[in-house]
Amino acid sequence: MRNPEHAIHAMFTQRWSPRSMLAEPMPAETLLSILEAARWAPSAYNAQPWRFVYAHRDTPEWAPLFNALNPMNQSWARHASALVAIASDEAMVLPGKTERTPNRWHSFDAGAAWAHMALQALHSGYVCHAMAGFDPDKLRQAIGAPAEFALECVVAIGKQGPKEALPAELQAREAPNGRHPLSQISYQGRWHT
Ligand SMILES: Cc1cc2nc3c(=O)[nH]c(=O)nc-3n(C[C@H](O)[C@H](O)[C@H](O)COP(=O)(O)O)c2cc1C
Repeated sequence: MRNPEHAIHAMFTQRWSPRSMLAEPMPAETLLSILEAARWAPSAYNAQPWRFVYAHRDTPEWAPLFNALNPMNQSWARHASALVAIASDEAMVLPGKTERTPNRWHSFDAGAAWAHMALQALHSGYVCHAMAGFDPDKLRQAIGAPAEFALECVVAIGKQGPKEALPAELQAREAPNGRHPLSQISYQGRWHT
């Protein structure tokens, strides 16, 4: 199913987004490693627009974050070990300036941080699943994000569980998916169709 067209490190095809997770607590240190990897992502002007608000399962912080997810995501993310909300600062202070100016790359850079997270989680024996399916008002209220921060997504992190533990309608989707051919998404010199 996941055969790369060209030689790449195995982590890129081994990472995928399962929904079945084992509902176990995870060590605080492991989650901090995952966030640490995200911290080292590149960003425009090294502005580091990302912010992470996390909650471990079975802690008081879990419920407000979990309750912001849509019902479909709640149906499986209830078994995650941790939830991490990713927000990004829509403005930055350019080098040599003092006032804030719009940062056109805030989401692009938060996406790079998310990719670092997912790959570090894989390396630590965990899986990640990003979710855009949340109620933005509830999430902002839950994590206390200031208005100038965009809410990017919530990431469920856990140890992968058996497919059979999922609600029936999600079991059929519990497999690594594919990608468009490289020839369809990359062009030498000039865009073509
Ligand atoms: C920003 C973003 C938002 C996503 N939102 C959801 C979501 O709300 N619910 C869900 O089940 N999957 C969600 N996904 C998972 C994608 O469907 C998945 O990453 C994509 O199909 C590629 O599969 P893979 O991650 O297994 O390689 C989201 C992924 C990303 C990157």
